[in-house]
Amino acid sequence: MGIIIAMNQNIIKISQLGLLLLSLLLAGYRVFANDATNIVRFDEKYDITWGNDHVLLLNQSTQVQLSMDLSSGAGFGSKLSYGSGFFHLRIKLPGKDSAGVVTAYYLTSQGDKHDELDFEFLGNREGKPITLQTNVFADGTGNREQRIFLWFDPTADFHTYQILWNQHQIVFYVDNIPIRVFKNNKNIGVAYPWQPMKIEASLWNGESWATDGGQTKTNWSMAPFKANFQGFDISGCPIIKNSNNNQECNSPKYWWNSQKYWKLDSKQQTELENVKNKYMYYDYCSDKPRYPIPPPECLH
Ligand SMILES: *[C@@H]1O[C@H](CO)[C@@H](O)[C@H](O)[C@H]1NC(C)=O
Repeated sequence: MGIIIAMNQNIIKISQLGLLLLSLLLAGYRVFANDATNIVRFDEKYDITWGNDHVLLLNQSTQVQLSMDLSSGAGFGSKLSYGSGFFHLRIKLPGKDSAGVVTAYYLTSQGDKHDELDFEFLGNREGKPITLQTNVFADGTGNREQRIFLWFDPTADFHTYQILWNQHQIVFYVDNIPIRVFKNNKNIGVAYPWQPMKIEASLWNGESWATDGGQTKTNWSMAPFKANFQGFDISGCPIIKNSNNNQECNSPKYWWNSQKYWKLDSKQQTELENVKNKYMYYDYCSDKPRYPIPPPECLH
């Protein structure tokens, strides 16, 4: 009996040791998993929306490649709609001669009086700079284009493009540098995006307008054109019908709604001024023929 009991105790000890080792392993895995929180597979958060046969999932679906030729472009979009957030994608644009090729990354709501926040990269002849156009639509009204050149070659590597959207401001960033701010000016009657929006990205044929107003055409002998995307984790407030609503998306429980994100700090303000001075070559706010009287948000 004694021997059997002793043996049982050993078995218990061995199994306890096993459990201990197992939990250590699990803890280690969790630390590892936390280090890798940004590694979210494409299909966890996004779906292909068009041009299925022009989409490639790469590196265990942590990278997506869209391609465009004469037959089609392609696009993808988030599964969910969001009511606020600090959104990002890492993008590497099509290289070489990409005139007429548009790579887009934007948030958009559904319906005719829609809200939309746009990054649009307008391709160009090899060696000529790619334009980054941004636009803001609220209640169906856009016509707020700004255009900049970038301070790096966006076709050479991945760069991070971000959109902050809370109740105080919308900020477009390139590699954490603010390039545009659209403040909430509802108090002076300027509509502000408020509708649930999905995140969309696409590669499409903009030959009729994108490069030199459509005069520089796509060189189809360079097709297929390829844009690559990474960074599919989403910092946003999902709108789930009948549970979460727009109001909850303004809650301070979301970090991008905290005071730090209500306006740019002085360093960011300097960075924005620098971009405007050095890289912006079109701003609807200073387009006098188009707007003899600048839109009200331009004066604030
Ligand atoms: C189009 O690309 C081909 C191949 O690189 C080149 O020979 C041709 O000159 C290009 N056409 C234009 C209009 O740039």
